[in-house]
Amino acid sequence: MLLSNKVIIITGGGSGMGKAASELFAKEGAKVVIADYQEVYKRPIGKEVAENIQEKGYEARYIETDVSKEDEVKNLINEVINLYGRIDVLYNNASHGYSSPYTMADILNTPLTDWSKILELNLTSIFLCCKYTIPHMLQNGKGSIINCSSINGLVAMPGADAYTAAKGGVISLTRVLASDYGPKNIRVNCICPGAINTPMIAGAIANPEVQKYFQTSTPLGRLGEPEEVAKLALFLASDDSSYLTGAIIPVDGGWTAR
Ligand SMILES: NC(=O)c1ccc[n+]([C@@H]2O[C@H](COP(=O)([O-])OP(=O)(O)OC[C@H]3O[C@@H](n4cnc5c(N)ncnc54)[C@H](O)[C@@H]3O)[C@@H](O)[C@H]2O)c1
Repeated sequence: MLLSNKVIIITGGGSGMGKAASELFAKEGAKVVIADYQEVYKRPIGKEVAENIQEKGYEARYIETDVSKEDEVKNLINEVINLYGRIDVLYNNASHGYSSPYTMADILNTPLTDWSKILELNLTSIFLCCKYTIPHMLQNGKGSIINCSSINGLVAMPGADAYTAAKGGVISLTRVLASDYGPKNIRVNCICPGAINTPMIAGAIANPEVQKYFQTSTPLGRLGEPEEVAKLALFLASDDSSYLTGAIIPVDGGWTAR
């Protein structure tokens, strides 16, 4: 097993790519802590995923957390430390993305309040989770942080200006943290998914024209599945990726290769 006894926090572990990673990491021996909330899907999806994993005989817990709120992130990290005494891996996956109630538009049509909220949900949330986890990784002498950006962070995606800027910020934050904490044996890497078949884009791909656009923009000719992203996250979480840090890795069927 690749993650035997590793204590791993997965934000947004209740749905899509976070759910796939929670299930895979638990099967690989991790003690999975799912940090999610009910704002997007209006049900305790993180709790449901944790219970499902437990029923299969693996280890998972749910701690309801809005990762964009400092006091809730502090509480999450304290609870994990009280439970397990350490954090081996932090997977910053949560975001509203394209299912966001906040304006996905060009800059002229993006109100400042929505710009701020999108940055808060996609970038400040990662700042907060890293800020309160890294001291424990320093104490432990090691750690792996995985951040989720997007192809939006790598290439311009007109019409989603705030989200695109936030995801670009996630890439820069990854690089600076990798530089700062590499000497302390904390690795920080970033996954950039392309169009992945998750609830986040379910509404968009219900439109056959959007579905076709995603397929024709992707050299592999299809959407990715959340499990295909989870396999990359597994590698980054495990000691198999021991010489990788500061890496920005697309998992996009070739979208950004063109
Ligand atoms: N699906 C895609 O095509 C795609 C493409 C590129 C990048 N991404 C990114 O991948 C990541 C996962 O997206 P997904 O497609 O699996 O989406 P999803 O909607 O299926 O899952 C996202 C999860 O994050 C949780 N979440 C959102 N905001 C939160 C907050 N403030 N606190 C706690 N939990 C929160 C949601 O409740 C949900 O469980 C996101 O960062 C997204 O921006 C997705």
